[in-house]
Amino acid sequence: MSRSARAVAHSNIALAKYWGKADVERNLPAVPSLSLTLDALSTTTSVELDAALESDEAQLDDHAVAGRPLARIIQLLDRVRARAGLETRARVVSHNDFPTAAGLASSASGFAALALAATRAAGLETAPEEVSALARASSASAARSVYGGFASLGAGAEAAERVASPDHFPLAMLVAVTATGPKAVGSTDGMQHTAGTSPYYAAWVEHAPQLYDEVRRAVLARDLEALGAAAEQSALMMHACMLAARPAVVYFSPVTLSVMERVRALRQSGTSAFYTMDAGPHVKVLTALGAATSVAAALFDVPGVGRVIRCAPGPDAHLVDVEGAAP
Ligand code: DP6
Repeated sequence: MSRSARAVAHSNIALAKYWGKADVERNLPAVPSLSLTLDALSTTTSVELDAALESDEAQLDDHAVAGRPLARIIQLLDRVRARAGLETRARVVSHNDFPTAAGLASSASGFAALALAATRAAGLETAPEEVSALARASSASAARSVYGGFASLGAGAEAAERVASPDHFPLAMLVAVTATGPKAVGSTDGMQHTAGTSPYYAAWVEHAPQLYDEVRRAVLARDLEALGAAAEQSALMMHACMLAARPAVVYFSPVTLSVMERVRALRQSGTSAFYTMDAGPHVKVLTALGAATSVAAALFDVPGVGRVIRCAPGPDAHLVDVEGAAP
């Protein structure tokens, strides 16, 4: 007896950043965040519940997953099984259409796709907010990838919420890929270390809600200038807080700084473009849809930028297929 479901979820980039946990055990965020879901970066995950399996197994981009990444997947599967009253083990097969663990938020799309595929394979008709809560328990940014367009996750919130649909604000997000290979410090460890050692952490937690409000208002008002200014400050404040940790958590590379400089130069010459960076060296640049081609060319021109991935607001996480009888 087996039953499988396959789901696609898109990556998201936070415009108001999440960094730090209010509750480590339950993985509840310390600050509110708001993100843009990206059409060009996605994860497709299938979950097959198979009575013949003795333990859960997982593959990511044709490689077997082991150790802590496998433990995180099993934890999510266990939550789904507990809810469905099942014991059956699962085979998880996942593909990213972008470099895994390079700071392109692969855990966000990955856990959102896994949560949706696992609930459906288990025969649960969970609402999006429940899928979002399941994803959030594994990786808080994944809660936001359940929704397309713009999504938010409140401080201490169980699940993300939709802020605006993909067609609300015709933006482009250009991902300047500055390096390949996995990141040095994962975001979960990076934020715990920051919370424990950075004297700026308390200031970050105090000021982040204000920036979140600004970002949210600017998204709803379709105001790119206001959105870009608040998003840049949110990213820089988050990184300032990491830089003040001991030892410092540094995700920037020299190319990261060069791309930031190029974006500032574009602005000085009259093009609205704004940067944001996450737990990796890549730079994501927000601009108007109409300016995307020329801004992408300017970013690709920076020495050390290997690739520029052009993204627009992406769709909700969705099911591709379900096979087999309900368990
Ligand atoms: C810098 O969601 O990866 O991308 O909840 O510990 O899995 P965990 O952390 P994660 O952190 C993402 C941090 C960020 C900013 C953001 O996406 O808001």
